[in-house]
Amino acid sequence: MGTATAEPKGSLLEKLNLLWAHRLITSSIGRKFVMGVTGLLLCGFLVGHLAGNLLLFSGQHEFDKYAAWIHNNELTPLAEAGLLVLFLAHIYLAFVTTLENREARKIAYARKESKIPERSLAFPPSNWMFLSGSIVLLFVLLHLADLRMGVRPDIAYPQWNEEAPPMYVMTVRVLSNPVSRVIYILGTVFLGFHLSHGFSSAFQSLGLSHPKYTPLIKAIGILFAVVIGAGFAALPVLVPELAPREKVVAPAEPHP
Ligand code: HEM
Repeated sequence: MGTATAEPKGSLLEKLNLLWAHRLITSSIGRKFVMGVTGLLLCGFLVGHLAGNLLLFSGQHEFDKYAAWIHNNELTPLAEAGLLVLFLAHIYLAFVTTLENREARKIAYARKESKIPERSLAFPPSNWMFLSGSIVLLFVLLHLADLRMGVRPDIAYPQWNEEAPPMYVMTVRVLSNPVSRVIYILGTVFLGFHLSHGFSSAFQSLGLSHPKYTPLIKAIGILFAVVIGAGFAALPVLVPELAPREKVVAPAEPHP
């Protein structure tokens, strides 16, 4: 199974004592393991992110207090760098694993040993994972552009304040934009779909599968997917309805 490539002896990796990482990422079992770990850590991020965003329902004061705490926290840049590494590693490994699975299937078809009709394998779960993951990635890129970087030309961003970022007004205006609203709902539904298979498959990739516990892990995975998917989707559905009108409709103001 493991297809380790030659280790780069005398290379920078060896000097930095990182040969173990090279070995991990160049074997298919190692790659699966890292995908599982990064996937579960990203699930942890989603729980924290949803918990923070649910403060939108507590109103402007509570949400802005939370946003100011994040923005003024000296550990935030470190957490953001870690998050970026997790996202990039997860996406890179998803590409490599999907290509590897596709190659393996081609070889199986060529041998014509399988009695399973080709049609039934034409779009296996790993491909659904790739498709739903790609849609979530597109959503995240739009989301970073409109709420992290504030560069959407069709959003009236509020005046920026370094010490007390106006995150409530900004988030309410983004969520109330008709284009965002549709994309945020679709993005979060696909996120739920991705998690419904991804959560339990991460445990399997870590070697944690057992006839007794696997059905329970699968059930927890579905529950997790529904809670996270529905929790995030509730924001673009409900926040524009519940937020005070003046936070939504406002003239465009300059944004840094
Ligand atoms: C659907 C409702 C969501 C809302 C209202 C929301 C809101 C926000 C807000 C207010 C920020 C902070 C921007 C800042 O502090 O400058 C943010 C950042 C971020 N969000 Fe979301 N988010 C949502 C869903 C998601 C989902 C589903 C994901 C991932 C799949 C996600 C990934 C991120 C990432 C990666 C960041 C950047 C974190 C950072 O660099 O600090 N968000 N989001």
